[in-house]
Amino acid sequence: MNPDELKRQAAEAALAYVDGGVIGVGTGSTVNQFIDVLAGIKHRIEGAVSSSEASTARLKQHGIPVFDLNAVGELALYVDGADESNARLELIKGGGGALTREKIVAAASRSFVCIADESKLVEVLGQFPLPVEVIPMARSLVARELVRLGGTPVWREGYVTDNGNLILDVQNLVITDPVGLEQQINALAGVVTVGLFAQRPADVLILGSAQGPRTLQ
Ligand code: A5P
Repeated sequence: MNPDELKRQAAEAALAYVDGGVIGVGTGSTVNQFIDVLAGIKHRIEGAVSSSEASTARLKQHGIPVFDLNAVGELALYVDGADESNARLELIKGGGGALTREKIVAAASRSFVCIADESKLVEVLGQFPLPVEVIPMARSLVARELVRLGGTPVWREGYVTDNGNLILDVQNLVITDPVGLEQQINALAGVVTVGLFAQRPADVLILGSAQGPRTLQ
């Protein structure tokens, strides 16, 4: 099976967690597949809260209403992809640059179902460069601090987030304490969000595999 088929498999398996109401929807190629299959059962939900302009556009193309999070309060379910997950379902996210809104929607949701192909499961987080969203004037300041923490930050040049900020992708990290590192990076002046989801990990991880969907929780 190719990667797209594995993502589709995970996306279809996530439909079992949809139980009406307003669904939190993440961002990325795996979530795009989820939005496409969600369209087939859109009569069973009220709509979605979206984590990016790209997902909002795709949801609307399918005729799925998109709500402002402030208008709906707590969500029962959030479905999103990941760039890496460990066995504790701590994640690196933000390869698509939507990490801040993703973290907000995850925090507003009772259950976070993460969907991915099986290549995303790793023993130790950090092989995928860790995205950090930064206020533009703090780019160099934050980069120096990230070097002190042992990383090699690389500015995602030419990219601006939906919130008008910049991304530093931090290479060469071996993340053995995801919760501690998330707290440390989030505490740096000028950081909006780090793409570590460890204080609030996923509750369920569905991995597409050649043997069929595998669920970790
Ligand atoms: C978007 O900012 C990311 O957090 C995505 O959820 C993550 O990059 C996974 O994307 P894919 O499903 O495209 O691999």
